[in-house]
Amino acid sequence: MRTLQVTPPRMIGPACTWEELLYCSATLRDASEMNESTTATPFARKYGPWALVAGASEGLGAAFAAALATRGLNLLLLARRADHLQAVAETVRANTSVQVRTQAFDLARPDLADALATLIANTDIGLAVYNAAFAPVGELTSRPMDDLLGVVDVNIRGPLIVARTLAPKMTARGRGGIVLMSSLAGYQGAPRIATYAASKAFNIVLGEGLWRELEPHGVDVIVSSAGAIRTPGYAKAAGKDAPGTLDAATVAEQTLDALGRGPVVVPGTTNRIARFVLGRMLPRRTAIEIFARSTKDLS
Ligand SMILES: NC(=O)c1ccc[n+]([C@@H]2O[C@H](COP(=O)([O-])OP(=O)(O)OC[C@H]3O[C@@H](n4cnc5c(N)ncnc54)[C@H](OP(=O)(O)O)[C@@H]3O)[C@@H](O)[C@H]2O)c1
Repeated sequence: MRTLQVTPPRMIGPACTWEELLYCSATLRDASEMNESTTATPFARKYGPWALVAGASEGLGAAFAAALATRGLNLLLLARRADHLQAVAETVRANTSVQVRTQAFDLARPDLADALATLIANTDIGLAVYNAAFAPVGELTSRPMDDLLGVVDVNIRGPLIVARTLAPKMTARGRGGIVLMSSLAGYQGAPRIATYAASKAFNIVLGEGLWRELEPHGVDVIVSSAGAIRTPGYAKAAGKDAPGTLDAATVAEQTLDALGRGPVVVPGTTNRIARFVLGRMLPRRTAIEIFARSTKDLS
């Protein structure tokens, strides 16, 4: 770490002239900014100083928070459960020296665009991770309409609003990043989670388009098309690991490592092979059948 080396023309005191004071304060400011920029990691210089993690109270969102803090970014963590967010924040504070803010926040709220703009007004966010998702299981006809529209709100409207709110600030300063969480379920129809799978297809296609749009402005977009991840949500729905299941920390790291190498990353070798076989080698009908076998026991 570099130390501040400031040599004022003479001692600052009541007899100083304005010019001398201005010289000293400008030199101190320059040296202090140089100090910050030289101590920040390359990741934090590109995507800092703050990261927003939408859906950060457990599972993969908590893993993103930990990984980003280790990479030197301050955190603004959102989810509905304040106590879970607090627990994530305390773990991060215990392990790193970054600043952490938490906010209990429903990403399905009707006034999301305005509420988000107010929330981030004074926070310099260089990276947005949209991790939150709602995944009700069951055939379409068995699910209440509100559940299905909730998927649209959390999984489609939410990431769209977050991207539209944050991208202009990132492009204006010529750097930043957006992470959209998707799923292998987003590449073909998936019975019993049909609306969720369709919402993940939206994130793939939105992210691919944004990747190309924002890249000339220095903003990196990555879509993470994950296979099964060991999270509380997945454990509740699946009961046991599917082939290729990864820890949340692995998915978070591989996703963040892929920033700048978009538009899409599929974490895990088994999942990349599955994606290749299902997407490139098998007819679409067969891919849907295979997916149906893996979703038939979800609850
Ligand atoms: N787990 C898997 O096997 C798997 C596989 C492929 C892709 N993915 C994707 O990876 C991401 C994370 O998965 P996960 O298993 O960790 O999910 P999860 O356990 O269901 O957690 C989702 C996070 O989103 C938050 N959230 C949900 N609805 C919200 C709302 N209305 N407002 C604010 N926050 C909300 C939850 O917090 P609160 O409840 O506190 O609000 C939680 O922090 C999702 O996008 C999912 O689609 C997961």
